[in-house]
Amino acid sequence: MAALLALNGVTGMKDLRYESVGELVAEQPALAEVFDRYGIDFCCGGKQTLEEACVKALVDPQTVLMDIKESSAKTVVDKSTRTWVNVTLTELTDHIQQTHHTYLKAELPRLQELADKVARVHGVKDPRLVQVAEIFSAMRREIEQHTEKEDLVLFPFIRQLDRATSVPETPFVTVANPIRCMESEHSDAGEALMQLRDLTEQYTAPERACTSWIALLNGLAHLDQDLRTHIHKENTILFPKAIEAESALRSVSQCKQRT
Ligand SMILES: [Fe+2]
Ligand SMILES: [Fe+2]
Repeated sequence: MAALLALNGVTGMKDLRYESVGELVAEQPALAEVFDRYGIDFCCGGKQTLEEACVKALVDPQTVLMDIKESSAKTVVDKSTRTWVNVTLTELTDHIQQTHHTYLKAELPRLQELADKVARVHGVKDPRLVQVAEIFSAMRREIEQHTEKEDLVLFPFIRQLDRATSVPETPFVTVANPIRCMESEHSDAGEALMQLRDLTEQYTAPERACTSWIALLNGLAHLDQDLRTHIHKENTILFPKAIEAESALRSVSQCKQRT
């Protein structure tokens, strides 16, 4: 809430330095673009404060704060960007599956084909393309297993939490356990993206690049953006809300047992 007030200029911009970058984007999604501009990690590194994130990204917090102010002013005019903070757990899991998981199911095989083809044709002259194909292949395998675990186990349990009146039976003791595992896998995907970004100079096509090479880089750039938004929604909004919902149900059960 402090962040929102500060964004509206009520408490001044200074407070924002101590807000987590993940929560700032959750409250105002347009800030993702500002943070991207400065290489500030708001998905896997979403728990760090704005000040910590600026130090890590080697940028002056004042410069970022000025851009946040500008972005906030525009957002006040254009309120069409949806935030996911106030929707139910069911709505959010549905949205993530229908938007981000569906996108990954279609895009990962397509990009794999392109990465293999470009590595085969141009990899001798530019061995970084072989590394890109290898890193992509490992990341794809992990992401596919990861989304399957969310689709088949974690998200159905979170939807159960949303409509339950007491904590549902679960083999994993508490929802915090699979969430920890998912967060760790998100960090692995974040590291793979960082390697892909470095190897491709931020997905920049060299002059000699053929059509497939350009298509691969454009596809990877889009995947990078979509995956970071996806991870942000899970790490910063969905997972904390699910843990909170489970803990509220547990408190209700304990109260009932006492009476
Ligand atoms: Fe997901
Ligand atoms: Fe995930």
